[in-house]
Amino acid sequence: MKTYYITTPIYYVNARPHLGHAYSTIVADTLKRFHTMLGEDARMQTGTDEHGDKIVKAAAAAGMTPQAFTDNISGAFRELWPQLGIEADGFIRTTDPTHKKAVQALLQRLYDKGDIYFSEYGGHYCYGCERFYTEKELVDGLCPQHLTRPEYISEKNYFFKMSKYQDKLRQYILDNPDFIRPERYRSEALAMLEGGVLEDLCISRPKSRLTWGIELPFDKDYVSYVWFDALSNYITALGWPEGEGDAGSLYQKYWPGEHLVAKDILKPHGIFWPTMLMAADLPLYRHLNVHGYWLVRDTKMSKSLGNVVDPLRAAEHFGLDAFRYFLLREMNFGSDASYSAEAITTRINADLANDLGNLFSRVLSMNAKYFQSKIPPLGDPSEADDALCELTDASAANYVQLFGDMRFSQALDALWTPIRAMNKYVDEQAPWTLAKAGQTERLGCVLRTLLENMYKVAYLLWPIMPTASATLQSQLGRPLGAFSEAALNDLLKYRAHLRTGADTAPASNLFPRLELPKEEAPEAAKPKKEKKPAQNKAEQTKSEQKKSGQEAPKAAIELADFQKLDLRVGTILAAEKHPSADRLLRFDVDLGEPQPRQIVSGIAAFFRPEDLVGRKVVVVANLPPRPLRGLESQGMILTAEADGKLDLLTVNAPNGAPVA
Ligand code: MSP
Repeated sequence: MKTYYITTPIYYVNARPHLGHAYSTIVADTLKRFHTMLGEDARMQTGTDEHGDKIVKAAAAAGMTPQAFTDNISGAFRELWPQLGIEADGFIRTTDPTHKKAVQALLQRLYDKGDIYFSEYGGHYCYGCERFYTEKELVDGLCPQHLTRPEYISEKNYFFKMSKYQDKLRQYILDNPDFIRPERYRSEALAMLEGGVLEDLCISRPKSRLTWGIELPFDKDYVSYVWFDALSNYITALGWPEGEGDAGSLYQKYWPGEHLVAKDILKPHGIFWPTMLMAADLPLYRHLNVHGYWLVRDTKMSKSLGNVVDPLRAAEHFGLDAFRYFLLREMNFGSDASYSAEAITTRINADLANDLGNLFSRVLSMNAKYFQSKIPPLGDPSEADDALCELTDASAANYVQLFGDMRFSQALDALWTPIRAMNKYVDEQAPWTLAKAGQTERLGCVLRTLLENMYKVAYLLWPIMPTASATLQSQLGRPLGAFSEAALNDLLKYRAHLRTGADTAPASNLFPRLELPKEEAPEAAKPKKEKKPAQNKAEQTKSEQKKSGQEAPKAAIELADFQKLDLRVGTILAAEKHPSADRLLRFDVDLGEPQPRQIVSGIAAFFRPEDLVGRKVVVVANLPPRPLRGLESQGMILTAEADGKLDLLTVNAPNGAPVA
């Protein structure tokens, strides 16, 4: 059986999972499912990258040990994936003892071969990038990524002779045009190999500076450079080096596999990793598949802008299958794409509610009405029926081809050709007129033709929308079956796959239309309405009471309702004016979680931000995040109002303590 092995980057544990991580991992899951559908033995691998300065710093900021900190965030990644419909076969952590041993074996192999040497090196070190920069690479003396001034460090270190493999790798990329794809990233990698001599790679860090890493097997005063450690995961996760010569091992079965990364980490994957494999005399990966970046309304996602998209919230809000569909359809693989609630709503309404959903809904209800939800016989197809079947088959073959070439958006577009054609076919064939005229045989033929072609589409959508695909197939009277090469060939080749007389669902409403979202404005940020005179006595009394600080008592609520509130103690770490709203302040509040929360609050008229830093506050911690003039607010700070003045609710308990 043909095997297929797809990996995601292993993610740093200095931040919680966001839309970008989710995209790579959903694409990897989709590819695994696609190859399963082709009848292959497919495996998908993901995990977390846990060593290095970055993680030590993030752990210190959260007041935790690196181990406790990494356990926590790695757990958040591991728990998230199944909730996004991702079925990973392996989840590696670079702190796993077996991984550490395997990295040491790889280092020793390169050292024994003479490809690792010891030398003095001086360079500008950026802690954010965890790498040295040459004078030439700096922009006005600053790191080009972080715009911070790197530290000049001169020390003795171990180096991997990467330059030795420069020509061999260049030739390999020239000989194998789809080794790195799409083309633009192949060109970028080639440019890195052509612009002068490739520098050797510094692969150690002295323990005097960093201990959170894998010790070099040939010098206990050094740990491995985090990228050397991380890249090795792709084979250590398959049990290498144990299985190297053993035909039954996971390594023998699945390596060489292929990688999926975004453009930010092209160099380590396109240059470091293949030269490391060459030096170790191991086969190179089959393909490096490189995608672009998700932007949010055309802006880079960043914590400080407060526009980081939480993938689980989005999936819960829009529906998991619809969310996965949007990601695959909207991004042209290789280019950047823009995420916004409007874009996803528009896409879902057009493609899923209008085209696909509407087709299923109208055809299934007609089959219920005219044939009591039993699949009618095929009868004698007309030219129009043949044309529809041919269009579906040609589009399906196109879809499979484009999918295999990583052109997901184009593949889905191809599959929507028969979906749209079927809606048109319904209008043209007008089953309701056939029913009225008593042409039952022709009516049956029309509905059966539709049901068969709908089945093909539902089947092929499984890699992207596994749950919806299974539901749609069941609605057509044929539940999801086992995948094999023969099953797919049959699907693409034959016209009839459903059983005459089998039951179809009476209705289908998988993809309801969504309302276009409106950005919420906070009460305090809304323009003040003209004050109208009090309409009646009751209203007058209310406003008087408010002025005096005594609000009328609210209606009684159940204790269970009160218990739904997650009130927590926090400390304001940072406070500043909102960049574009006078009434708002922006805070970073420590709630005892790994990362501080950003909270935006309409209290600028009452406080100077600098007076609030360090104050203890009480926060409603389980409100859904909402955008306030472009910044996401992840909670609400409680205040008390009296005589036109505002006071903060404050207690002395430690951060994160629940308030009840
Ligand atoms: N730990 C390294 C990877 C080591 S792999 C041997 C790393 N980690 S990371 O947490 O920064 O993840 C980077 C990856 O996350 C990107 O390559 C991409 O897969 C995903 N994304 C992060 N932000 C993204 C977007 N805004 N858009 C799309 N994907 C992005 O680098």
